[in-house]
Amino acid sequence: MYMRILVTGIAGYIGSHTALELLNAGHEVVGFDNLCNSSEESVRRVRALAGRPLRFERLDLLDAAGLALLVKEGFDAVVHFAGLKAVGESVEKPDLYRRNNVDGSANLLAAMRAAGCRRLVFSSSCTVYGEVKKNPVDESHPRSAVNPYGRTKLDVEDLCFDLAKREKGWDIALLRYFNPVGAHDSGRIGEDPKGLPNNLMPFVMQTAVGRREKVRVWGNDYPTPDGTGVRDYIHVVDLALGHLAALEKLPSFGGARAINLGTGRGYSVLEVVKAASKAVGRAIPYEIQPRRPGDSAAIWGDVALARETLGWSAARDMDRMCADHWRWQKNNPTGYAS
Ligand code: NAD
Ligand code: WQD
Repeated sequence: MYMRILVTGIAGYIGSHTALELLNAGHEVVGFDNLCNSSEESVRRVRALAGRPLRFERLDLLDAAGLALLVKEGFDAVVHFAGLKAVGESVEKPDLYRRNNVDGSANLLAAMRAAGCRRLVFSSSCTVYGEVKKNPVDESHPRSAVNPYGRTKLDVEDLCFDLAKREKGWDIALLRYFNPVGAHDSGRIGEDPKGLPNNLMPFVMQTAVGRREKVRVWGNDYPTPDGTGVRDYIHVVDLALGHLAALEKLPSFGGARAINLGTGRGYSVLEVVKAASKAVGRAIPYEIQPRRPGDSAAIWGDVALARETLGWSAARDMDRMCADHWRWQKNNPTGYAS
C-alpha cells in the first residue's frame, strides 16, 4: 500500500535511516527539520542512496503556522522524530525541553487534526519505564520520569492517549525504543553526535577512530554478570523497519498503543566493548570509572507485542551493529563534516 508520509526530524540519526527505508519501500517522503542537532548532508545522502526524490523543508515544530501549512498539503501518516534528546542538558534546561518536545508535539497534533490526518508514529523511549522492577520490561510496566527528558516522553504519550480516547479515528503508535546503535551498511549515513558523546556506542567508535583516548566504563559494581550496565541495543536499520511495519499496521490500531522496539536481549558495557573491538580488529582501550549518576543497572525489553501486532522483530545482532557502526565511523571520522 503506497503512502505519502511526513517525517519530522528527518535529518537526525533515526529519522534519516527511517526515511531511507520508507523510500526503498516505495513510499513518498516529505521531511522537515530545524537542523538544531543535525546537518542537511544526511538528507542529501539519503536521497542519493534511495535514488528517488525526497523533499526537505527547514522548519521548526514551534512554528505552528508553518507546520499547519505543510501538514495541510495532505499526508497519509506522520512519523514524528523531531525533539531534543540529551538527558544531561534536559536537567539544566527543563523548560527548553518541555517547550520544544511537548509544545512542539502539541503543535503537530493540532496541525494534523486541522488537516484531517490522524495516523501518527511517535518516537517514545524505554526511559518511560523509569527504575525497572523486572526484566524483560513489557508495555504494562508502570511509567515514571527520572529526568526532564523522560518527562517529555511521558507527556507526549499522554497527549496522544488522551486525544485518541477523546476523538474517534486516531491511529497512533507510540514506539518505545531501547538503545539504537549501528548505521546503514553503505557506511554513508550514521549517528553524528555533537561534542562529547553521551551514549556508549558512539564513544566506543570515536575511541577506535582515535578521537578519544579511552572508553570510560561507568561502574563495574552493578548487580549484573560482569558488574557493568546492561542494555538492549538495537540496530538502527531494524528500528527503521519497525516504523515501516507500524505504518503498515496503523489502520488496524483504532486508538493509541505503546509498543517496545528492542531485541529482547541485554548486553553489558564490557560485552559491547569486546564486540566493537572484534569489528575494529584491535582492542579498544577502556578504563573503569565510578558509576554515572542516574544510570540503572540493567534494562532490556519484552518484544512480544511488536512481534504480535506489527509482525516485526529485530534481525541484526551485536556483531552486525558494531560492524556497521564502525564502517560509518571509519569512513566519516568526523561525521557529516568529514
Ligand atoms: P537526533 O537528534 O539525531 O534527531 C532529532 C532531530 O530532530 C534532529 O535532526 C533535530 O535537529 C530535530 N529537531 C529537534 N527539535 C526540533 C524542532 N523543534 N523542530 C524541528 N526539528 C527539530 O535524535 P535521534 O537519535 O534520531 O532521535 C529521534 C527521536 O527518537 C527523538 O525524539 C528521541 O528522543 C527519540 N529517541 C532516541 C533514542 C536514542 O537513543 N537515540 C532513544 C529513544 C528515543
Ligand atoms: C549505555 C550503558 C552506561 C557511556 C540513554 C538515555 C535514554 C535513551 C537511550 C533516549 C550504560 C554505559 C555509557 C559511556 C559507559 N535515549 N556507558 N560509558 O543511559 O541506557 O540511555 O540513551 O530516549 O533515555 O538515557 O544509554 O548509551 O548512555 O549508556 O560506560 O561513555 O553504557 O552506564 O550502562 P542509556 P547510554
